[in-house]
Amino acid sequence: MHFYILTLFPEMVMQGLGTSILGRAAQRGHISVEAVNIRDYTLDKHGKVDDYTYGGGAGMLMQAQPVYDACMAVQERIAKRCGEDGRAAGARVVYVTPQGRTFHQEMAREFAREEDLIFLCGHYEGIDERVLEEIVTDQVSIGDYVLTGGELPAMVMVDAIARLVPGVLHNSESALTETFHDGLLEYPQYSRPEIWHGRRVPEILLSGDHARVDAWRLAQSLERTKRLRPDLYEAYMAAKNAPKETKE
Ligand code: ADE
Repeated sequence: MHFYILTLFPEMVMQGLGTSILGRAAQRGHISVEAVNIRDYTLDKHGKVDDYTYGGGAGMLMQAQPVYDACMAVQERIAKRCGEDGRAAGARVVYVTPQGRTFHQEMAREFAREEDLIFLCGHYEGIDERVLEEIVTDQVSIGDYVLTGGELPAMVMVDAIARLVPGVLHNSESALTETFHDGLLEYPQYSRPEIWHGRRVPEILLSGDHARVDAWRLAQSLERTKRLRPDLYEAYMAAKNAPKETKE
């Protein structure tokens, strides 16, 4: 899967996403991450990408032209790679904004099915609305708080999506059993030593009885979800008790 991040701060994005699991996945060719500097596309001879807002108000706005040209350059490269002409249907363009739909695991799963994904990061007071209307397919937020720019939210989303791409995680099971898979929080886990600060690893995990371990883990997941995230627990129980669709 190929990620493109349109930003005024490409180093920030590449430093954040070039290490650890995603860095390794990129080296192994499972994903690619490219930060595209919007400033490289400005036609302004001083390299300017922002200007005052019409109608007044504090702060500067990112202008339409450099954002549009940066995005089109990426779309054309994607189309060429796909063997299509430069005006193909195009990859999805995610505008990272607190006004968007709130990101969640199911959205990550949906985006992970794309071959290419373009993130657009705003700065200053935002981006000229006209270019958003022309190029953006999805508006996504990472929560109800305001950050100084879209780079951190874009990095959060790329991380959550990339780890679902086949081959990125070493242990394919870890994406299946973890928190939010199936709508439950993950059960507690323990490693050596058996006793630490006087606290013992639960006896059942040392039993070697896989069926009992699985049952214990499910019970722990249920208890934990009910206690910490009653909203998720209710949704899980409702889905479980809902009548199954019957085939004709
Ligand atoms: N840009 C600034 N704050 C944001 C947020 N919470 N989510 C997405 N993009 C943002």
